[in-house]
Amino acid sequence: MSSSGEAELLHTFKGIPFTTRSSPELLKSLDTFDAREDDVLLVSYPKSGTHWLAGVITKLYDTQVTVTSPIELGDISRLEELNKLSSKRIIPTHLDYNMLPPNFKNKKCKMIYISRNPKDTAVSMFHYYRDNPNLPTVDSWTAFFDLFLKGNVVCGSWFDHFLSWEEHEDEKNILFLFYEDMKKDLPKVVKEITLFLNLNVSHDDIQDICKKSSFSEMKNDTEKENSDPSHTVCALTSNRKLIFRKGAVGDWKNYFTPKQNIRFQEIFNEKMKLSKM
Ligand code: A3P
Repeated sequence: MSSSGEAELLHTFKGIPFTTRSSPELLKSLDTFDAREDDVLLVSYPKSGTHWLAGVITKLYDTQVTVTSPIELGDISRLEELNKLSSKRIIPTHLDYNMLPPNFKNKKCKMIYISRNPKDTAVSMFHYYRDNPNLPTVDSWTAFFDLFLKGNVVCGSWFDHFLSWEEHEDEKNILFLFYEDMKKDLPKVVKEITLFLNLNVSHDDIQDICKKSSFSEMKNDTEKENSDPSHTVCALTSNRKLIFRKGAVGDWKNYFTPKQNIRFQEIFNEKMKLSKM
C-alpha cells in the first residue's frame, strides 16, 4: 500500500480505519443520533453481501421505506438529513457493535447482521481496494493479505467486527445471516427475514423477489441505480458498478497459497476460539 495514499484516504477513529468519506465530526456525533423504534439496521463488515441483502429487503415492503446511505457516511449534516426523513428507515452500517449509536440499542431496533466467510471477504475486499479510488492502492494480493489479517484495512479487523456483534447474537432484535446460506437457499433466508420483520409476503412473491435479486439481475440494474444519488448502500463508493464482481462462494481458493491458508486458519482458530462460528 502506498503510504501517501493511505495518509490521504484513511483516518483512524477509536482505533478503526475509516475513509475520509466518514468525517471525524460525524463519527464523534453518532452517539447523539436519534433512533426510531421502527428503524431497521443492515449491519455488515464490508464485502459481506450488504447490497444483496438491501436489494432483497426493499422488495419485501409494500409500504414506503427508504434505504438510507450508511449512517457513518458523510459529514455532520447527515444526522439532520436522516432526522428529516418521514418514511420508515432502513439504515446500512459497517460500524462495530461498540460504535453503534446507543439509541438503536436502547430502543431495541431490529438489526440484521450479514456475515461471510472471511477468506472470501478478504478476496472481495482486495479487488475493491484495487478498483475503488476512495481506497488506498495495494501492490499485491500478498501485501493485502497481511493488511487484512492485521486489521489494517478500512473498518478494521474482520475478527473484531464479527465478535463484537456475535456477542449479541441471542438478543431478540438481532438476526444473524450468512452470505453462504443466501447462496444456498435464498427463498429460505428471505422467509426467515420476513418472519423477523413481521412482514406478510406470499410464497410466490418470495420466489419472484429471489429471481429479481439474483447476481445477474442486480448487476444489470447498476446503470439505472447509479444515476440515483440516494441509492448508495456503501460507505466506500457511490459507484454500484464496483460492487457486483463475481458473487461466488469459495473464490478464496483462487488466491490463497497453501501457506497463507494455514496462517489464516491459525489466526482464525486463535481469535475465534470463543466464537460459535
Ligand atoms: P465479490 O467481490 O466476491 O463478487 P457488499 O455489498 O457488502 O459490498 O458485498 C459485495 C459482495 O457481494 C461482492 O462479492 C458482490 O459480488 C456480492 N454480491 C452482490 N450482490 C450479489 C448477489 N445478488 N448475489 C451474490 N453475490 C452478490
